[in-house]
Formats: sequence, C-alpha cells, structure tokens
Amino acid sequence: MVGSTQTQVISADPRGVEQAAALLAKGALVAFPTETVYGLGADARDDTAVAGIFAAKNRPQFNPLIVHVRDLDHARSFAEFGDAADRLADAFWPGALTLVVPMKPGAGLSPLVSAGLPSVALRVPAHPVAQALLTAFDGPVAAPSANPSGRVSPTRADHVLDGLNGRIAAILDGGACDVGVESTIVGCTDTPTLLRPGGIPVEAIEACLGQPLARAAHEGPITAPGQLSSHYAPDAPLRLNADHAQPGELWLGFGHGCEGAALNLSPSGDLLQAAANLFHYLRQMDEMSGGKAGIAVAPIPETGLGLAINDRLRRAAAPRP
Ligand code: TXA
Ligand code: MG
Repeated sequence: MVGSTQTQVISADPRGVEQAAALLAKGALVAFPTETVYGLGADARDDTAVAGIFAAKNRPQFNPLIVHVRDLDHARSFAEFGDAADRLADAFWPGALTLVVPMKPGAGLSPLVSAGLPSVALRVPAHPVAQALLTAFDGPVAAPSANPSGRVSPTRADHVLDGLNGRIAAILDGGACDVGVESTIVGCTDTPTLLRPGGIPVEAIEACLGQPLARAAHEGPITAPGQLSSHYAPDAPLRLNADHAQPGELWLGFGHGCEGAALNLSPSGDLLQAAANLFHYLRQMDEMSGGKAGIAVAPIPETGLGLAINDRLRRAAAPRP
C-alpha cells in the first residue's frame, strides 16, 4: 500500500464498516478508531499485509504488534489463557488492556506480528466502530498506533491523515478517541508483569489480581530488541552481506544474481516481499542446515523496510549468550 495514491476517508456507518472489512480482507491497510488511539490495521494472518504496516509507518525495527480480536472466545483460538489472563480478560475486556499470552501452536498468525516470539499481545477493544469492524472482518487484526514511527499517537482521523496520507488504503472515521493514551500491557506468560502503563490504571489491575504486578526488567515498552533476541535467532550461525556462500554454508539470497541460493527473500529485489518472507525463510534455512551448515545472507539495501530487515538480521547474527 505504500505509495498508493490517496487515502480514502470512510465514514463509520454500517456500509463504511463493510467496505473497511473488505479492504482488510484484500490485504490492504486500514486505520480505525479504538477507545485509546487510532490503530493501523492489517490482517494479522497475512505476511505481506503485516509487512506493509512497518513500511507505512517507516518503522526501522520489527517490534511485536498488538492483535485485536472481537471477544475473549476469539482470543482463545490464538493463545493460552492461564488464571491471571482469564481474570484480567473477564474484568477489563472489552477495554484498554492488552494481554501478552503464550501463542497456541498453529495459531496461524504471521510471525511478523509477534516478531518471531512464542507469545502474542491480544486486545479486545471496546470502541463500537472497532467492534463492528472486527465482527465484519471476522478475523484477527494487527494494529499498532496509526502514526509514522517516532510521532505521537493519533486520536482523530485527521491526525492519521496528517501522518499517513497516501501510504494506507483507508481510514475509518469514528470521531475522537476517548482515552487518548495506549492500552496498558500486562505480560501473562509468567508472573503477571506490567510491560507498559496505559489506559487502565495499574491499581485496578492489581486489585483484580489481588497481588502487585511485577515490573519489566527494562522499564518502558518492550520494543522487541535486546532482551528478546534469543527467541528469534536461528540455531545456525549467520554471516551477513555475503555475495556468495562459502563451503559449509547455505545462501539466503535477495534480488537478482543469486543463482545457487537455497532460498531467495525476494528474487525481484522487493523489500516488502523480503520482509514478509524473512521469519519463514530463516526458520526454513535453519531446518535445511540441520545444525551442520552456516547461513550466508545476501546484502539487503539499507532503505525503507531494509532497515528493519537488517536490524533483525544483525540481532540474529550477534554472538549468543
Ligand atoms: O492502545 C493501544 O494499545 C494501541 C491501539 C491501536 O490498540 N496499539 C498500540 O500498539 O499501542 P503498538 O504496536 O504501538 O504497541 C505494541 C507494543 C509493543 O511495543 C510491545 O511493547 C508490546 O506491545 N508487545 C506486543 N507483543 C508483545 C510480545 N509478544 N511480548 C512483549 N511485548 C509485546
Ligand atoms: Mg505506538
């Protein structure tokens, strides 16, 4: 969707909601209101659509995104809910709370959504337009805030237009968002942990659980990197900017002139396609290597989505603890 001509502003009546859902189903990007901020939505099962979110926002890193679902039942089809997650979902969904929970095997979400992690951030928004869209679309919608990377989160359709006009297919205009700050994020993969303060007060969450929340080792949001790197590093050693494979290596190509590559992230040199394939191909290369061969990765340009791809490759290539 990047470079598309004009972003359509769609009014949030039943017809508009159907139109927005149809765009999502085609793999297009649609901004929509939640009670916290406007989200930039894409089908969370569609690798190319999710890669498009990072391109539209100009995000230099693949940090994990929040997956929006219409209700707890739908959420359970993607993840395991333990006692704490169950309790919090009961008390605060729909609402400004996001739960990070263990992903179910075969959940079918794009690995770009979770940045390759075994957990997923899920949220059931309360905003009637978000609810209507999720019901009409009938699938999981990945959505970070609908602003270019590094800019403040939008709480009105015209804020979204300011930042993303021409870069996304449409905005579902549902007026101003009430809460104005992002959802509170609680990690429920282990001891319940505050990952990001937000729209639901921490005190209310602690009262519901009857215990204080642990605090993340690194204060502030986990923007994927650093602490999480071990989860998405392949077992095989990675060598970057390799214009050919050496003996004992498998070559992961990019663009033309990569004859002999075991796989090619994008034979035509399309960074969106390369981003969509990245996690799948790293995994496949790892399987092909069977722990015996290293992986040599062709150079990826440091432009657009290439920044996020290279960031992730560098983390995967870094020495392991
Ligand atoms: O209010 C909100 O939460 C808005 C609306 C649109 O729902 N969304 C939002 O998304 O703020 P985003 O992408 O800006 O924030 C997602 C954050 C990531 O920065 C990361 O901190 C956390 O969610 N996150 C997502 N998945 C995670 C995971 N598997 N483990 C740990 N943190 C995760
Ligand atoms: Mg944001």
